[in-house]
Amino acid sequence: MSNIGSYDERIKDFDWSIAEKELGYKQGDNINIGWYCSDRICEMGKADKLALIWEGLGGVEKRYTFNDVRVRSNTIAKYLQDLGIKDGDRVCLFMDKIPELYIGFLGVLKLGAIAQPLFSAFGDESLHVRLDNAETTAIITQRKHVSKVRKLLERAPYLKHIILVDHDGKKSLNDRETFFNMDEAEPVENFDVFPTKANSPSVLHYTSGTTGQPKGVKHVHYSLISQYLTAKWVLDIQEDDIYWCTADPGWVTGTSYGIIGAWSNGATQCVLDTGFSAESWYAFVEKNKVSMWYSAPTAIRSLMKAGNDVVKKYDLSSLRHLASVGEPLNAEAVIWSEKVLGLPFYDTFWQTETGSMMICNYPGMKVKPGSMGKPFPGITAAILDPDTFEEIKEPNKPGLIAFRPGWPAMMRMYWRNEETYNKKFVNGWYLSGDRSTFDADGYWWFVGRDDDVINTGGHLVSPFEVESALLEHEAVAESAVVAKPDEVNMEVVKAFVTLKPGFEAGEELELQIMNFIRKKLSPLAMPQEIEYMETLPKTRSGKIMRRMLHAKEWGLEIGDTSTLED
Ligand code: PRX
Repeated sequence: MSNIGSYDERIKDFDWSIAEKELGYKQGDNINIGWYCSDRICEMGKADKLALIWEGLGGVEKRYTFNDVRVRSNTIAKYLQDLGIKDGDRVCLFMDKIPELYIGFLGVLKLGAIAQPLFSAFGDESLHVRLDNAETTAIITQRKHVSKVRKLLERAPYLKHIILVDHDGKKSLNDRETFFNMDEAEPVENFDVFPTKANSPSVLHYTSGTTGQPKGVKHVHYSLISQYLTAKWVLDIQEDDIYWCTADPGWVTGTSYGIIGAWSNGATQCVLDTGFSAESWYAFVEKNKVSMWYSAPTAIRSLMKAGNDVVKKYDLSSLRHLASVGEPLNAEAVIWSEKVLGLPFYDTFWQTETGSMMICNYPGMKVKPGSMGKPFPGITAAILDPDTFEEIKEPNKPGLIAFRPGWPAMMRMYWRNEETYNKKFVNGWYLSGDRSTFDADGYWWFVGRDDDVINTGGHLVSPFEVESALLEHEAVAESAVVAKPDEVNMEVVKAFVTLKPGFEAGEELELQIMNFIRKKLSPLAMPQEIEYMETLPKTRSGKIMRRMLHAKEWGLEIGDTSTLED
């Protein structure tokens, strides 16, 4: 029997108090995600249950029980407290998918500080704009990433502490650097968890928009309510499950479901901190007897590409339920997994801003391959007319996906950017920035994004950020960045540039520019192709018309060109 039972029954008189009751929370109580994900599970008699099975390069393994997670997160919290870090301070977690990232996240929250996880492949520029916006007090990182932090010390006076989790302290550190060894530090059995309330800030995740700098999405501790219940009902996490969420906690899936949803449900989860290969992923499922798997379409398409023979080499019979998020899950991928893995991937739709799943396929509900499913109980979703913002009630008519604010994990603000935040709301609706239709059976079908943001392999990349970085290259005069179709990643970054006099277009320069962006921003933001142009298409007021370049890449009609310069 699945946790949700019947979706149709659940939506009838749904109330979030279901989750509050299960978590033993009453309005006005203290609520701290760090405590709920560790101390509470121990109090429920699961102190010795495995919380984390971690595997790194070369098959190195580490295991932590819920009691280990409880004590180690206390230890980290106390360490940060002794440094003078306090509630409300932003503490960045800038690490690979190592145990310190998962457990440190809870430690930061136990202290009442705000966890700011950032993808460890970010280059110094991507890192800097995000730290700058948040005026981050401390960063917890690894030796392999610290050089990126050191590069921006002069520009980051607010950054008082750089904490290395894998440093022996023997080599000299600069005066802002300290080191902390999670497994060897004196364990702190008891820590006074900061009395955070429902509206106390918890997590700050950065997400990219079409224009302007990345936006810091502020979440609060009350988000736990919907993260807990969606993990339970949609991912169907049960007592004996071994759960594997492949997302990196530098992105929202990796925290909402790779930490909070999993551990607040007392689930044993495993983490593979190596690159992708179909063989190593299947081997990991087999070895750990993974039963519940939450992944992303790009990974699924990569598995498909690796072929069906490789699947046969492994015993994947432990798998019980599969789900996906981050980008459109094409029908072929669902049909393939049903045929080859014996189970379909259940699509889920949500965003950094929504904090928890919004439109999903549920265990026990018929899957229509290619559909995102139906709104989670308690979520009021609508499709709005893009011009009037009126609700479209007839099926199969595309429009803007909108949600009535009020679910627990909804973002509470874009950090220091109230203006952009306010623009996300119209007539009492939160506008997701995506388009969809629903059919006569109430199933939702993704149509596309409503902006120029590039979704590459489930990661959002801002064309503005890449364009700005390109302009810092000595050879580039002008730049325009759009998505280009890609078989596996669905979209990849493509740049159009004009060159400054004296620079020669060619492959050597192309590679040099690509590398420049990879280092400055990240491998995700690196253009996969650079096209040299004599001029870029512009409006008469001088604005570059990305739309035309995008249409060219996708073989679409160029549309209205009346504002074109010439
Ligand atoms: O465009 C939608 C796409 O990813 C965006 C959210 O990205 P992010 O905030 O980084 O969060 C990703 C993980 C929650 C959405 O606005 N997206 C997400 N899920 C789906 C999707 N597009 C189609 N189908 C999905 N299931």
